[in-house]
Amino acid sequence: MSSEGTSGHDADHTDSAASDGFLQRYGRRPAGVWSAPGRVNLIGEHTDYNDGFVFPFGLDRRTAVALGDRHDQVVRVSSGFSPDEVSIHLDEITPDSVAGWSAYPLGVVWALAQFGADLAHVRGVDLHIASEVPVGAGLSSSAALESAVALALNEHWGLGLDRPTLAKVGQLAENRVVGAPTGILDQSASLLAQADAGVFLDCRSLDSDVIPLHFAEEGLTVLVVDTHVAHAHATGGYAARRASCEQGARALGVESLRDVHLDDLPRAEGVLDDETFRRVRHIVTENQRVLDTVRTLRERGAHAIGALLDASHASMRDDFEISVPELDLAVATAQAGGAVGARMTGGGFGGSAIALVDVALVPAITEAVLAAFAAAGHRTPTVFTVTPSQGARRDG
Ligand code: GLA
Repeated sequence: MSSEGTSGHDADHTDSAASDGFLQRYGRRPAGVWSAPGRVNLIGEHTDYNDGFVFPFGLDRRTAVALGDRHDQVVRVSSGFSPDEVSIHLDEITPDSVAGWSAYPLGVVWALAQFGADLAHVRGVDLHIASEVPVGAGLSSSAALESAVALALNEHWGLGLDRPTLAKVGQLAENRVVGAPTGILDQSASLLAQADAGVFLDCRSLDSDVIPLHFAEEGLTVLVVDTHVAHAHATGGYAARRASCEQGARALGVESLRDVHLDDLPRAEGVLDDETFRRVRHIVTENQRVLDTVRTLRERGAHAIGALLDASHASMRDDFEISVPELDLAVATAQAGGAVGARMTGGGFGGSAIALVDVALVPAITEAVLAAFAAAGHRTPTVFTVTPSQGARRDG
């Protein structure tokens, strides 16, 4: 049975895996350990690169990086999830000189330099990475890795960059080094998250507000259904959706779809072809749903946001067309089982769905999802609960 049913992943465990791995690889103790969480986006999908609003929270599953100083200018990276160890001189790190998983940490080193870090005057480091964020689940394991490394190097090298800038560093690494045309959502969530809270982020101004969620207090939890349907944002649908949004903004004569409002939609429908119009309608209505979710949470509490989560999923399924049958089934089954609300989360085309559920319903909804997947002949999903947790930090 792949249901875990509980959360409470022990952050200390990831930290010790990073420190112990460091000791084993490099034969000495690290000078420090930093960690950063994966994320769930509660609502606000594909709005980030349209200068819109998002509302994610940090996961209780983290990626930790143990760091040790060196006396030369070499950066060496290793991890618990790959036998590969990569050593490269600071001068030689470029978007083209790194590949594989090490592109994430080394991409961050390169991106820090693009934001003003003077790498000619720092000493190299040894890094060892350990992670409990599932890879390929749409829970931003890559942003967790980038954010942990960015914060570690920022503090170790005394660069003085603030967290919103470190989020841009991670995004640049992802865009230029890894090659995925993604927005600022994932890294912002990983760096700005707080326990029991969501990060309400304006992706245009990068102003953010931490909004208490009070899920546990209200007897609620978030169930994640990892469908194990693979997605890759460096190729395919994600970039196509981004291009449609840009095309829609151009045709409507605005800088970005952030500048289109609900009452502009009738005019937009007259100007755009049907497909582009539906892409635009998703972004415009999704931005409004983020604002409504934050307001509803503040005024009426988490039980009242369900319809907004459900509407967000319908919009992604029907207008933005980024869902897949497995995600739709997870959402429909959770809704039928009494979830407050449910939606796919992240970039789409696979990955995970989330359901906001009464704690007492977790076992029944988990069983129902597993049974529905089996009946449909889908691969067995992994179902687990998550707790909104603190963003990137130094742990030791
Ligand atoms: C992925 C990207 C984010 C964002 C989401 C969709 O997670 O990395 O930048 O665009 O998809 O909301």
